[in-house]
Amino acid sequence: MISQSFIQELLDRVDIADVIERNVPLRKAGANYTACCPFHSEKTPSFTVSPSKQFYHCFGCGAHGSAISFLMEYAGMNFVEAVTDLASRVGMRIPAQKSGIHPENPGSESGSRQESAPAQQPGTEAFTRDLSDAMSAATRFYREQLKHSQNAIGYLKTRGLTGETAARFAIGYAPAGWQNLDAALAGFLAGKRADLLAEAGLVIAEDGKRYDRFRDRIMFPILDLKGRIVGFGGRILDQGEPKYLNSPETPLFQKGHLLYNLYSARRAIRQAGKVIVVEGYMDVVALSQHGVDYAVATLGTATTPHHVQKLLRHTDNVVFCFDGDNAGRKAAWRALEDSLAQVVDGKNISFLFLPEGEDPDSYVRRHGKEAFERLFEHALPLSVFLFKELSARVDLRTSEGCAKLAQDAKPLLAKVAAPGLALLLLKRLAEISGFTRNELEELLKIRRFSSTRTPEKASRPQPASPYRWLIQVLLYDPGYAAKLDRDLLTEDTEYSEEIVALTELVEFIDNCPHISVNAVVPAAITYFQDSPHCKLLQKAQSETLAWDANIDVEAEFAGAMAQLRNRKRKQRMTKLHSKSLSMLTHEEKQELQRLALS
Ligand code: UTP
Ligand code: MN
Repeated sequence: MISQSFIQELLDRVDIADVIERNVPLRKAGANYTACCPFHSEKTPSFTVSPSKQFYHCFGCGAHGSAISFLMEYAGMNFVEAVTDLASRVGMRIPAQKSGIHPENPGSESGSRQESAPAQQPGTEAFTRDLSDAMSAATRFYREQLKHSQNAIGYLKTRGLTGETAARFAIGYAPAGWQNLDAALAGFLAGKRADLLAEAGLVIAEDGKRYDRFRDRIMFPILDLKGRIVGFGGRILDQGEPKYLNSPETPLFQKGHLLYNLYSARRAIRQAGKVIVVEGYMDVVALSQHGVDYAVATLGTATTPHHVQKLLRHTDNVVFCFDGDNAGRKAAWRALEDSLAQVVDGKNISFLFLPEGEDPDSYVRRHGKEAFERLFEHALPLSVFLFKELSARVDLRTSEGCAKLAQDAKPLLAKVAAPGLALLLLKRLAEISGFTRNELEELLKIRRFSSTRTPEKASRPQPASPYRWLIQVLLYDPGYAAKLDRDLLTEDTEYSEEIVALTELVEFIDNCPHISVNAVVPAAITYFQDSPHCKLLQKAQSETLAWDANIDVEAEFAGAMAQLRNRKRKQRMTKLHSKSLSMLTHEEKQELQRLALS
């Protein structure tokens, strides 16, 4: 693990424009640079690099980050590789490294952290490091156990897996028995928190009993995008329920955000120009063994918009692959609904249905790589699948059916953010339903689509809340954190995410007092990359790109603070007014008077 202060110093020394320029030709545009976005295909540049604030942002696909994230996203490096690369360019040496996971060989390093850890608060860097260290230690144990279990090896053989594939995916075996882990990991656990394995979801501690969650199961480690092991899927050998058991959600393991194999497949995805999303761990593993190494899987949950967004940042083509049965069509429809808001023009999402009774694992084993890849020719583009499903629900020979089709399409079309796709879908709906485009626009009360897309203008929309405004100011000049009146950062149900994000940002800035302001913000953006507030912070920062060099930051800060004070004043007054006058204390009455006058 590399310390935050090292990362801040590094980001202070590198120039993001240099880093990006090596790969993407940049053009000067005012104080910033622009280029056609390297993360999605486009003809007019919407990718912007801010040299003064050291971040990039794409107004088309939302790609956003620091020099470190650029190397991770663009060159497919992991976090440590990106930091090492940047450090070598500016002649910095990374201080002695501790445990981490090597990309090609997860779980192979000896996580030998000798110092004893004090109790860590959830959410801190040290806390999550301990969790992933525990996962790595467990992986080593499970892999070792696999070598000794003829039963487990035999099972993997019947599934057609080679030893090489099993090693590449760091597949292991959790032995039968209720209490193996505590003893097996005793060395690793020395000096660690007593409940670490329980926090990691590896051990279940309830009603005074303690036992291993995974017993007699084939173990599939799941890596996040930093290459850390963050959870497991465990398959039962042969029959039994549940067939797969997954790690519970932890601060590191969020199923709605993670995709199995995405970390290891990044390069292959870039090379293939596509990613294929399948349903099972075994599908991914079998496909990889047969040379289809750009497959990922959800973790036994439905696809989420986060998944789609993540995938679209890695490639322009996402192929969802489902079983040909009813459940598969249902899952595909859900994936489609989640994709509508995420897809941007120039990206393709399509849906592949396998013949009934087959899954990717069985198909590729039986027919091989070429046959499997030929199936892609029959994948349905999102627009085709959408109307195929909608049309199947109505009788298009009747007027009623056509009207219903239009109504059914309405909420789906409303989700589409990509202007080109939205227009095409509307045209297609017109063809199928028999309405004209104008009639549809009228009927569905959807915004009219202009045929040319207006580029992002440097106009300044008013921030939606004072919290967001302050986030912008702090990301523009973190020096203002010191002047911010912390008493005002109290709960606000209307803007609960924004207040939390602002508070965490302030905390982050507070924690780097001796770092140049130029490095604080890129470090913060890197730090919050995996946080639930990531999008919000990125969006707020991208909005500051419209602030030109003449902006009066002092005035922005004062404006935001005034708005915040006013908001808090009104909230307090509403609260006091909600009590009947006779219930108010003398002090409260005075306060109310004061508030009303201020
Ligand atoms: P499937 O039941 O389709 O199984 O589950 P599979 O992947 O073909 O598994 P094999 O071939 O029988 O080994 C697909 C995915 O759904 C999740 C797992 O992530 C699995 O890979 N799942 C399934 C669970 O989480 N729990 C279950 O009990 C079953
Ligand atoms: Mn299967």
